[in-house]
Amino acid sequence: MTLVDINSLEPLADPLEQAKRAAAYMAVDQNVPKDAKFVGIGSGSTVVYAAERIGQLPNKDQFICIPTSFQSKQLIFDNDLKFGTIDQYLNVDITFDGADEVDSRLNCIKGGGACLFQEKLVASCSKKLVIIADYRKKSPRYLAENWRKGIPIEVVPIAWIKVKNDLINFGARSVQLRQGGTQKAGPVVTDNGNFIMDADFGVIDGDIKVLNDKIRGLVGVVETGLFVDMVEKAYFGNKDGSVTILF
Ligand code: 5RP
Repeated sequence: MTLVDINSLEPLADPLEQAKRAAAYMAVDQNVPKDAKFVGIGSGSTVVYAAERIGQLPNKDQFICIPTSFQSKQLIFDNDLKFGTIDQYLNVDITFDGADEVDSRLNCIKGGGACLFQEKLVASCSKKLVIIADYRKKSPRYLAENWRKGIPIEVVPIAWIKVKNDLINFGARSVQLRQGGTQKAGPVVTDNGNFIMDADFGVIDGDIKVLNDKIRGLVGVVETGLFVDMVEKAYFGNKDGSVTILF
C-alpha cells in the first residue's frame, strides 16, 4: 500500500481540524525512521491524526507503538497498530505528541488532557520527541502567554492541599484542583489514580528549569506539565493548511 500524498487529501470542513491534520501528517511523513522499532503515541485531539497517518504507513507492522494514556492505547488499537508498553520497551525511537503551548525555545506546557505523567515518561525514553499542534499553540516568546489555565501538575490525592499551599508560597497567583467537567463530578483522576492541579504563575519569563525543579521537588508532586529541553521539533498547522516547523 502506498501512502496518499498530503496535498491530494480531501479538505476537512473545520479549519482547526485541517490545521491539526496537516501538522500531524507532515510530522509523521518526515520523521518516522525507516528502521523504526518503537514509536511513542502521545495524547489529545491532534495525536488522533498522527495515529491515523502512522496506521497508513506501508511499514507499520515493523514497529511497536507505545501509548502515553488510555486514550492513546485505544488509538493504537483503532488504527490496527502493534501495541507494547513502556515497561516492556524502554528505548523508543520517536514519539509524536500534542501540546498546550510551545515557546520559541521549544519548551512546552502539556497536560491539558491530564496525561502529562505518562507523556513525560515515554518522552524521556524517546530518542526524539516531535510536537504536533495547531497555530493557537505557538507562543511568540514565553510559555503561558496564550495558555492561561496554568501549569498542569499531577499530585498524589492526599497531598493536594499541602501542594496547593506550597505552590501559593512559591508565588502562584491561583491554584485549582481540576474538576471533571462540573464541580459535582469531583476531581479529575488521572490514568495513574492521581489528581491534577493547575497552577497559574503568569507568563513564564524567568528560568523555566528552576521553576520546574522547584515544583517537582515538592512532596506530593508526581510530575509537572512543563517539558523543558525535551522537544526536538514542533509542527504547527496553520489555518490555510500550511505548516510551520520549529527546531
Ligand atoms: C494531554 C496533552 C495534550 O497533548 C495536549 O493537551 C494537547 O491536546 P490537543 O492536541 O487536543 O490540543 O498534553 O495531557
